[in-house]
Amino acid sequence: MKIAVLAGDGIGPEVTSAALCVLDALNLPDIELAQGDVGGLAYHRHGHPLPPETLELARSSDAILFGAVGDPTCDNLARDLRPEQAILGLRSALGLFANLRPAAGWPGLESLSPLRPEIASGIDLLVVRELTGDVYFGDKGERIGENCERVGWDAMAYGEGEVRRIAHVAFRAAGSRRGKVTSVDKANVLETSRIWRETVIEVAREYPEIALDHIYVDNAAMQMVREPSQFDVVLTGNLFGDILSDQASACVGSIGLLASASLGERQTDYGTFGLYEPIHGSAPDIAGQGRANPCAAILSLAMLLRHSLGMEAEAGRIEQAVGQALAKGVRGMDLGGNADTETMTKAVLSELLTIS
Ligand code: NAD
Ligand code: IPM
Ligand code: MN
Repeated sequence: MKIAVLAGDGIGPEVTSAALCVLDALNLPDIELAQGDVGGLAYHRHGHPLPPETLELARSSDAILFGAVGDPTCDNLARDLRPEQAILGLRSALGLFANLRPAAGWPGLESLSPLRPEIASGIDLLVVRELTGDVYFGDKGERIGENCERVGWDAMAYGEGEVRRIAHVAFRAAGSRRGKVTSVDKANVLETSRIWRETVIEVAREYPEIALDHIYVDNAAMQMVREPSQFDVVLTGNLFGDILSDQASACVGSIGLLASASLGERQTDYGTFGLYEPIHGSAPDIAGQGRANPCAAILSLAMLLRHSLGMEAEAGRIEQAVGQALAKGVRGMDLGGNADTETMTKAVLSELLTIS
């Protein structure tokens, strides 16, 4: 079982090391790790954020453990050379169209959410975000507009096939959860969303046992803070899913807690090939200080073991260990506590020992 480890920039390597300590503690046989350069680090070393050897390494593995990319020293580079192109390039080249971002309240953290505790404690949702289409991957450019001013443009588009396959992922996920899909769009304004909504309704006919409702994205943002417990599976496009998942993370307590899986159709000998990463970025404001919360990366490792390596029991052990550490009051600085990355990681490791 080969895991490509792409730690990237900023806090990416800090939280990825923490996840690797947890992997090490599991003592799993037959795991091979292979490190690769991505992001600003790869740009500085190789002149490109996603060098061909890194893409090849990713392709030849069973799963990818990804940290984060983003480097303020690269902010003025052409878009194709920016660190963010590494993650976008991997998602697109590897066909990872389905991004799963679970957000559920952790017992003991309710009072740390900016929402009232009784509202925060009801959160248990899964954002199913389409990941290889939308305005992210449409044509884009700059033209000269009226008055000789520069105009930037990005085309937003979704084909029925793209919507259909992500809708199936959402309906299947809802089948093993509370049986409800909320599709988020902007069908009152966007043609993209009209096709999105019509296609989701068509796919829903194959899942009569799943309840489907539709909500405009502005209302969804409002409902997410007003009454997040109404959401089970939130099915949405690339841009809306990016925004709503950061919002969901704050509702739960912190972005330092949210993991993700990016999956496609390729199967490996052990499960589904995928890339696993925290939903947060490289956090340049705290990078290098050893303060980042590693939970999102550790929980991403759990998702990797579950989806790509078929190790449900080990994934469950990691999630339980994180839950126990948080329940005992060990809190990262993003949660108002004083546990640095190392302290939080050690707390998870010692809880792991208590779980058979
Ligand atoms: P960010 O997620 O990096 O940080 C937002 C805020 O959350 C910051 O204040 C940061 O300190 C805090 N934060 C994030 N993760 C944390 C953690 N684990 N523990 C404690 N605090 C944490 O978002 P940003 O500041 O908008 O972006 C920074 C860079 O990261 C940009 O270059 C952006 O493009 C990139 N980015 C990359 C990814 C990715 O690699 N998938 C995701 C998001 C952003
Ligand atoms: C994420 C990030 C990325 C996205 C950026 C870095 C391209 O924000 O993974 O959520 O927008 O998808
Ligand atoms: Mn994001």
